[in-house]
Amino acid sequence: MRQPPLIQTHAFDVAEWEVDAEFGVFPQGARAKDAVFAPALPPEAVLVGGKRYLFKRSKRSYPDQFWGEVIAYRVGCLMGLQVPPAFAAFNSRTGHSAALIEWFYRDGAELFALGGDFMQMLRPDFDRDRGTQHNLQDVERLMRALVHTGALTQNWRQWWAEALLFDALIGNSDRHQDNWGLIFESAGRQPPNMPPCRLAPLFDNGTSLGHERFPERVAGWTDARLDQYIDRGTHHIKSSIDPGHVQGHLALLRHVLHDWAQHLDLNLLRSRIDFSADDLTSCVGDLVHLPVPSPLSTARMRFVCRLLVRRLTLLKELLDVPAAPPG
Ligand SMILES: Nc1ncnc2c1ncn2[C@@H]1O[C@H](COP(=O)(O)OP(=O)(O)OP(=O)(O)O)[C@@H](O)[C@H]1O
Ligand SMILES: [Mg+2]
Repeated sequence: MRQPPLIQTHAFDVAEWEVDAEFGVFPQGARAKDAVFAPALPPEAVLVGGKRYLFKRSKRSYPDQFWGEVIAYRVGCLMGLQVPPAFAAFNSRTGHSAALIEWFYRDGAELFALGGDFMQMLRPDFDRDRGTQHNLQDVERLMRALVHTGALTQNWRQWWAEALLFDALIGNSDRHQDNWGLIFESAGRQPPNMPPCRLAPLFDNGTSLGHERFPERVAGWTDARLDQYIDRGTHHIKSSIDPGHVQGHLALLRHVLHDWAQHLDLNLLRSRIDFSADDLTSCVGDLVHLPVPSPLSTARMRFVCRLLVRRLTLLKELLDVPAAPPG
C-alpha cells in the first residue's frame, strides 16, 4: 500500500534550468511560481530528465510555507495516495526557496481540466474567486454525469473519501474548486465521444500543517490548545450549500462515510492510515537537513509532527483503526 517516497539527498538549485516561456509567469493561483524543465541529466535520479516542474514559492508572509508541499508529498506516499512528487529547491541567482513539484499530466496526450470549470457549468453564478458554493452534492452530480457518459470508470467516491482523509490528516483547508481536477486522455478521440478521464493527483497541498502559525508562538501550546486548533479546522468543500451543511475536517469525513457507506471500501480507507506516529515523523525527518535559504527549522518540524500525530490518532478513532502497540 505505501509507496516509497522519492528522497532527495541535496536541495536542487534551478538557477541554470530552462524556464518554460509558455508558463513563465504562471497566472493561476496565489503564490509566485515558474514552470522549469529539469536538465536532461538531472542532478539526482529522483528527478526526471527534461520533465517540467513547478517551482512554487511561499506566500510572502509565510516564507517556509513551501515545505508543506514537500511534507504533504511524503505523507501522501505513506498513505499510498497519488500526490505529485515534491522536493525542496532554491534558485541561487534570486535567493528564492520553493517546492519543486513534478508535472502530473502528459502534455499533448492529456488535457487537465480544473474542478472549477465544471462547478461553473453546474452553477453559472458560481463564485470562482472564493468558491463559497463549492459543495459535495454538486461534485456528486458531476461525477455521476461523467460515469453516465462512460468517461469516468474509477470509484470516485473512494477517491473523494481518500482525498478528504488526506486533507484531514494534513489539516488542509484549501482544496477549493481549482485545487482538484480531471485529466482527460485527449489523444485519438474525436467528438462527440467523451474521452476517458480520471481524477488528478492531489496537488496544491501547502495551505495546511499549521503553516500560518509561527513556531515560537505555538511551542508552549497545551494538548487542549492543540485540540482546540485542530477542532476548528475545516475543508474548503462543504457537504452541500444548505444551511445545515458540514465542513469540519472530521465531520465531513464522517458525513461521507455515512452517506456513501455502500460504495466505499472501508478497509482500504482504514489501510490508508494504518501506520504509526513513528512512521509519520520518520518519513519527514530528513527534511530539516536540506540546506535552502528558507530551511525547515526543527521548531517548525516539531509543530508539524505534533499536529500530524494528533490528527492521525483522531482519524484512527474515527475509522476504528486499532492503535499501534506501544514501542
Ligand atoms: N504538479 C503540477 N502539474 C501540472 N499542473 C500543476 C501542478 N501543480 C499545479 N498545477 C497547476 O497550476 C495551478 C496553480 O498551482 P497551485 O494550485 O499549486 O498554486 P497556488 O498558487 O497555490 O494556488 P491557490 O491560489 O489555489 O493556493 C493549478 O491550479 C494547476 O492548474
Ligand atoms: Mg491552487
